[in-house]
Amino acid sequence: MLPDENGIDGWLRYASLSSKLASQFKQYRSIIALSKDESSPVFTAAKEVQKGLNGILKQEVKIGHDLASKSQAEDTATIVIGTISAFSQAGKDVSNIPPLKEDGFWLNKDGNENVQILGQNERGALYGAFEFLMLLAQGKPCPSGHISNPSAPIRWVNQWDNLDGSIERGYAGPSIFFKDMVVREDLTRVSQYARLMASVGLNGIIVNNVNSHHELFSLKNLEGLGRIANAMRPWGVRIGVALFFDTPKTLAGLPTSDPLDPDVIAFWDRITAELHQHVPDLIGYLIKANSEGQPGPLTYGRTLAEGANLFAAALKRYGDGVVVYRAFVYNHHLDESNWKNDRANAAVEFFKDMDTLFADNVLVQIKYGPIDFQVREPTSPLFAHLRKTPAIIEFQVAQEYLGQQSHVCYLPPLWKTILDFDLRIDGESSPVHKILSGERFGWKQSGYASVVNVGSDSTWLGSHLAMSNLYAYGRYAWAPTSDAEDVIRDWTRLTFTSNPTVVDTVTSISMESWPTYENYSGNLGIQTLCEITKTCHYGPRPDSMDGNGWGQWTRADAHGIGMDRTVATGTGYAGQYPTEVAKMYEKIETTPDELLLWFHHVPYTQRLKSGKTVIQHFYDAHYEGAANAQTFAPRWEALRGLIDDARFKHVLFRLKYQAGHSLVWRDSVNNFYMDKCGIADEHGRVGHYPYRIEAESMDLTGYNVVPITPFEAASGGKAIITTSNDKPGTAKCKVPFETGIYNVAVNYYDHLGGTSRYKLSLGGKVIGEWAGDLGTVLLHDFSDLRDGHSATRITFESVSVNKGDVLEIIGMPDGDELAPIDYVSFLPPGVVD
Ligand code: GCU
Repeated sequence: MLPDENGIDGWLRYASLSSKLASQFKQYRSIIALSKDESSPVFTAAKEVQKGLNGILKQEVKIGHDLASKSQAEDTATIVIGTISAFSQAGKDVSNIPPLKEDGFWLNKDGNENVQILGQNERGALYGAFEFLMLLAQGKPCPSGHISNPSAPIRWVNQWDNLDGSIERGYAGPSIFFKDMVVREDLTRVSQYARLMASVGLNGIIVNNVNSHHELFSLKNLEGLGRIANAMRPWGVRIGVALFFDTPKTLAGLPTSDPLDPDVIAFWDRITAELHQHVPDLIGYLIKANSEGQPGPLTYGRTLAEGANLFAAALKRYGDGVVVYRAFVYNHHLDESNWKNDRANAAVEFFKDMDTLFADNVLVQIKYGPIDFQVREPTSPLFAHLRKTPAIIEFQVAQEYLGQQSHVCYLPPLWKTILDFDLRIDGESSPVHKILSGERFGWKQSGYASVVNVGSDSTWLGSHLAMSNLYAYGRYAWAPTSDAEDVIRDWTRLTFTSNPTVVDTVTSISMESWPTYENYSGNLGIQTLCEITKTCHYGPRPDSMDGNGWGQWTRADAHGIGMDRTVATGTGYAGQYPTEVAKMYEKIETTPDELLLWFHHVPYTQRLKSGKTVIQHFYDAHYEGAANAQTFAPRWEALRGLIDDARFKHVLFRLKYQAGHSLVWRDSVNNFYMDKCGIADEHGRVGHYPYRIEAESMDLTGYNVVPITPFEAASGGKAIITTSNDKPGTAKCKVPFETGIYNVAVNYYDHLGGTSRYKLSLGGKVIGEWAGDLGTVLLHDFSDLRDGHSATRITFESVSVNKGDVLEIIGMPDGDELAPIDYVSFLPPGVVD
């Protein structure tokens, strides 16, 4: 049996190769690190290679520093790690190494199997060392004369960690950085995180939430930020912070935070100076202002550029720190009754005239789409408007709208729709990745940021499979034209094993996962149809998209659906793109189906290019998506014994949970729209569930029937809850189905506020017992209500059932959770419902 693993090393496990494979590699005699400074990335690289060789090849290799003294024994080889300039200073010929970009590296094996890992700078050497190790861990030899350069200089992550230790959109336990309003004492996890980041070329991190707090600048925290920087520096990761714009008022008691006020300027100069005493290599400030209730320059009658330039001037005195100003500026009290209003227009409207006004150390960070990390969005048109001001794209490894790490959703296929998109600026080829690399407009600083929500859980992200997105994010920031399948294959070999069954299974599930999720959560560019007015952003709640000022409107009524974003009759958003792209989106005929409802308001009977109507596509896609989600767990189950049990079970539990929740999504969305437009499903599925027994139709003792809001979050619109919160309830009925083998599924609600317990029996025999404890098991908030977030399913497989048997469920309530049950399904083998 394979030893259990908890995920803490992510893809850097350095599992040993089989002795046959290991014997193909030479015995390494020494590692020569061309730096003796223990905090340098070169020294880190040497230690990492030592650790890797020990794990992968079971070789114990010493680290030395003196290149000259190395005398080469014939049957052993040496690994040299350093910068190209240090190698050259040691008298070595570097004329065969082509010029490298910042952070680039040269990886070379000579005829005697000696390896040179040489970086353009110290970080580059570390990146080269990881490349060497990750190849070796997959049994792949070190290449000769291999150079690798990052596509862009900025490859950062944004943590949304709060000082109190919570994490905005965190689904993996409390912060590894902060606790009780201060930086944690023990930063071991922070160094481990920096190691993971460095291994995929990530070189910067904003350590706190964009919704920031002035306490970040307390003396204790300034010192703490210094400790965080020290923990990450050996891995070549530099830190920056997110600012609260009103800090002058709230921390220093100034009467204003006006960016042109001399006292405010002096305040930020002082803070910046103090911060640099602790973090001399600060990468800069990230600013969320005039967004979702945050104050900003507009609050004081100043322009966005005036706000950004205040911080730019303060940073200018020290090093190369930059101001990263988020383009996520919009009015969240927008009037829906005006068909011209459109939140998607906001970023271009706010930023296009600022392009020439920002100081030269200001960059604008733009979410990949114009709204907010939806399951499908067009590329933000703002990328076509900034020419002088460099841009950073903002992705989300955090799966906020994409199943919150409880649904598997491998993101590179989504990212590629954005990165490869050709904006045709000035009629010339302008794929987004060439804008971000700086190539299109000649920028020196530009690149990538991603919101990452690692937490204290040993899995980092609450799910082993979700870690492929963190790994892939680094790989894409380095090489944005990478193949999504190659990346997941590498990750799987490193994370689990090179066993082809495992690699193929994880690859196929991952590659299908985003289209599957899109199918059951929001099609044709309508966005993720989750609850958006509460903070959860998780389960289905299509009606929450409309009727409020947030501007994520679908404009669904009895006749039609979709936002008219055309120039001719709509919000004009399509016209924000360069001419060729604008023309494509302006017309229904030339808009790709997957974005139809993003750009056009159409009747439900509108025919797609596929020939289906919009509404039938909705129904079919939801059925297909949920059906495919059912296949993930059985496919994973075939890997039992091929990977360690702990990780096997952890993933299996989540895939089974996802299978159940995908059905909640399917039924909620389909019933919602069928109710709205009154058009039946051509295949008669929506609203007809022949395998179900509704809980409200059972004989109830100690249980009451209640309506569920929204109606579509319950089968038949109703469920049952116990009549008190301290006495059990019982629901009984006779099984009306023919005798046979069934998968018996119970749909119930697992919400916050208590942990109910359930017992299911058939014909007097206990089939299963379980607890409503998903909140603790899945590590994220659901809701405190019976709704689409908390609706869930447990399935008992291959149960032998006799017609007429008594089915009995006893529910034991706890606190506010009244053992709620929706329905029970008896599913013949192969049936999904
Ligand atoms: C989303 C998210 C918020 C976050 C915001 C942002 O709206 O739900 O939690 O603060 O994006 O990016 O600033």
